Amino acid sequence: MSNILVLNGPNLNLLGTRQPDVYGRETLSMIEADCIKYGGTRGALISCLQSNHEGALIDAIHAAKSGQQGIVLNAGAYTHTSIALMDAIASVELPCVEVHLSNIHAREEFRHVSYISKVAIGQICGFGSRGYIMGIDALLAHLDMCDDK
Ligand code: DQA
Repeated sequence: MSNILVLNGPNLNLLGTRQPDVYGRETLSMIEADCIKYGGTRGALISCLQSNHEGALIDAIHAAKSGQQGIVLNAGAYTHTSIALMDAIASVELPCVEVHLSNIHAREEFRHVSYISKVAIGQICGFGSRGYIMGIDALLAHLDMCDDK
């Protein structure tokens, strides 16, 4: 059984009411419940966590090292600013799939830069909440591939 952490950063606790035209109407609780349910159908145990604080996200990444096989991460705006989060992912050496609800490349220029991409195995963006399920799939495929080696 794979253990996967679905980690969400700042302002994503407001999903459902936050700019629904950009981020959709699903709440974070709904998205997390879908991830847990989907994980169950794939034999994966999904743990979910959200924080608005950079240090708490870093602590969660460090803690994932003992017990989780990978991370699905939507770092919110820290994506574009946080070298510390990038370093945390590189430090724990866990495969990380970067997820964004919106297509960050079609938005303001400051959103085109992602520090997370530099250490993630890949990025999924622009597919709304379905991106999280796609992220779990991508991570499981990656873990399977590593097991086969
Ligand atoms: C986001 C995109 C970021 O640019 C933004 O700061 C967010 C959400 C997304 O899921 O589309 O908070 O990560």
